[in-house]
Amino acid sequence: MGQTLRGRHLLSVRDLSPQEVRQVLDLAHHLKREHRAGIRHEILAGKAVALLFEKPSLRTRVTFEVGVRQLGGYSVYLAPQDVQLGVRETVPDVARNLSRWVDGIVARVNRHAALVELAEAAAVPVINALSDFEHPCQALGDLLTLEERFGGFSGIRAAWVGDGNNVCHSFLLAAARVGLSVAVATPPGYAPDPDVVAEAQAEARRWGASVRVLTDPREAVAGAHVVYTDVWTSMGQEAQREERRRAFQGFQVNQKLLDAADPQAVVLHCLPAHRGEEITDEVLDGPRSVVLDQAENRLHAQKAVLALVL
Ligand code: CP
Ligand code: NVA
Repeated sequence: MGQTLRGRHLLSVRDLSPQEVRQVLDLAHHLKREHRAGIRHEILAGKAVALLFEKPSLRTRVTFEVGVRQLGGYSVYLAPQDVQLGVRETVPDVARNLSRWVDGIVARVNRHAALVELAEAAAVPVINALSDFEHPCQALGDLLTLEERFGGFSGIRAAWVGDGNNVCHSFLLAAARVGLSVAVATPPGYAPDPDVVAEAQAEARRWGASVRVLTDPREAVAGAHVVYTDVWTSMGQEAQREERRRAFQGFQVNQKLLDAADPQAVVLHCLPAHRGEEITDEVLDGPRSVVLDQAENRLHAQKAVLALVL
């Protein structure tokens, strides 16, 4: 196992080189196979991990708790009302205290800046469990899922349909690092961050892949091997729900849109889904959907991250 990631923070996919993304994926495949074969590893024996959450979670919380345990460590879950980052005490004070007790901090925060502040003051690695800007652990699980399906990324084209949000940012940065091409289609005003797009474009080019940002979902999906969507209204944006529902009309991943993709295309959704908004039941529960493999793979991808970083 390589040592380069040991002790480092994972706040963004930007924190990983293409070689390090490869290293995480290789270890994740390995840990998944071994887990299925009943082989256990005590890589985190005696280590403690704090799970500091400012927002609700099903997948991220369960996969980190179970993953830490499977690797022989243990975790302490801190719910939104427990710590109250920056309210009950300052973010650096939280980081400095936690660093005296635990070997790593997994944090889901409202503002990405709070994650940066946490990492600056922490003496232990901080792992982003979702911020308003990125969701790197999601992207690693996504790549694991696609690599299982397609055996690699060369020549594979993905379409992102919907909001150019946190999950989109991490997916773009991660896809670029493995040479997976992505066409993003969002309504005007909901495109991904231009710096993320520029960086992903430059990285993708190195691997002969591309990143395009469009406003027509059919154009993005045409012939795509992967169709990925996420909610139109993310956690914390509930006040904008009606405005967003209107803005995203025409961006629903339904059977008609999916018919424009490659016949063998797979459908991704990070979940939770707002059924009937960004995706129909027919597609989410249909034969092209791999969303449960995707959810399972969060576990294996994050175990690899924990094993490499802690
Ligand atoms: N995809 C994801 O992170 O799900 P949760 O919000 O349930 O953790
Ligand atoms: N974009 C969604 C992802 C949830 C996993 C949100 O931030 O709520």
